[in-house]
Amino acid sequence: MSKLILFILWAVIRAYAATPKQCFENMFPFGVASAVFQTEGAWNMSGKGESIWDRYTHNHPELVFDHTNADVATDSYHKYRDDVRNVKKLGVTFYRFSIAWSRILPTGLINEINEEGLKYYHELIDELLKAGIYPVVTMYHWDLPQSLQDLGGWTNPIIVDYFVDYARLLFQNFGIKVSHWLTFNEPRSFCHDGYGGYNAPGSRSSGLEDYLCGHNVLRAHAMTFRMYEREFSHLKAYVGIALDMVWLEPATTSADDQKAAETARQFTFGWFGHPILSEEGDYPQVMREVIDRNSIHQGFFRSRLPTFTPEEVAMIKKSYHFLGLNHYTTKLVTKGSGNISNKPSYEDDMGVKMSQKPTWPKTNATWINVVPWGFRKTLKWIKNSFNNPPVFITENGAPFEAGLQDVKRVNYIEAYLRSLHDAIYKDGCRVMAYTYWSLMDNYEWMWGYSERFGLFEVDYKSSNLTRSARLSAAFYSTVARTKCIPD
Ligand code: NOJ
Repeated sequence: MSKLILFILWAVIRAYAATPKQCFENMFPFGVASAVFQTEGAWNMSGKGESIWDRYTHNHPELVFDHTNADVATDSYHKYRDDVRNVKKLGVTFYRFSIAWSRILPTGLINEINEEGLKYYHELIDELLKAGIYPVVTMYHWDLPQSLQDLGGWTNPIIVDYFVDYARLLFQNFGIKVSHWLTFNEPRSFCHDGYGGYNAPGSRSSGLEDYLCGHNVLRAHAMTFRMYEREFSHLKAYVGIALDMVWLEPATTSADDQKAAETARQFTFGWFGHPILSEEGDYPQVMREVIDRNSIHQGFFRSRLPTFTPEEVAMIKKSYHFLGLNHYTTKLVTKGSGNISNKPSYEDDMGVKMSQKPTWPKTNATWINVVPWGFRKTLKWIKNSFNNPPVFITENGAPFEAGLQDVKRVNYIEAYLRSLHDAIYKDGCRVMAYTYWSLMDNYEWMWGYSERFGLFEVDYKSSNLTRSARLSAAFYSTVARTKCIPD
């Protein structure tokens, strides 16, 4: 008798304690992502031109954490069939990858087309389609042809036309096979880190060149979108841009910190998101005000933040079919000191201090803590700020120790998916798809091969760069196939 009572008690407690199963709708697409410089290798083979990342990592191995380069990376140029097989094994709907501008146009310019480059991407896309996997293609994932950098790269307005020429060539060649296009990946990262920080091309002109870069990227994105509408809309694909957003949480409830956090969101996501997604088609008001004021204070006769013409505003406003979102983590924000030095700086313009809570679980990347609730807040903020646009999660993930039993990664994915589920089903955010970054370990920019984000582990010591499925691959595969988060 007492056993029976105990059993009933246990069953009742269990029923209450169990979280209800969280499922996504039947057709919800899950996918995995990679990017060309981080995986392809073959940096100078079959007619490919040099990119800014080839040049930077060759000239400055000392700046890369493990002093490596991506000349071989995961050798996906030769092993793309293995990669597609692994994507297929996961049972996901799509594979997000990027195209190397300099493999198709070695000098970046349309007058010299590398047919071998076109052939390679046709083969990759065909292999995916044969396997029943949709290609989601990023046109630009940071690897600018070096010869365009020699002209000033993204700071020279002429690049806008060159990008549109390149984009048109991609639509002409692959348009019929690709349903989702991303013009750019994380312009905030490559403009700020590339022209004002520590990434290729290695310019250190924060507060000047990074804003010029952003300006030209916004024009290039919008011009490409309008070109697609005019010339290719019969193909019925979707064109968007992938923007990154770390959730920026006020460190305290003080009005100052609340304001600082919102300013920081506008300076990071809003820099690109506001012109494209808002009704105004221009930079966030707070960016305009602060940078105008600081520029005058620093003795400039005009703002360091360039202005769009009314025609450009009309072109940029709503230049998207969907928003790509890369989200990894959360930071705390407090009000900055308010001191502005005489040297231009994006950080000074933003005027806040960011930190991480010591109790937040860590990953192998110093900037990524496991803070799943920040995902939901990010999505809700986007929903409320921009009238609930359709969002495609183009990246989410984290690096952990080498090894196949990556329980920490499973926990990260599970927690972030639960938060995503709440955003969709409790908050009504319009999320169209989710992408885990990354399919396999790869070259993590200035961190080299030291950070491993993969569902598949890459054995860099083996001569054929063996890929092996981790525990997280099995977990993610279950989610992708059943559309439910396992209990
Ligand atoms: C964003 C970038 O798009 C990708 O290239 C990078 O590897 C991941 N974040 C992780 O840092």
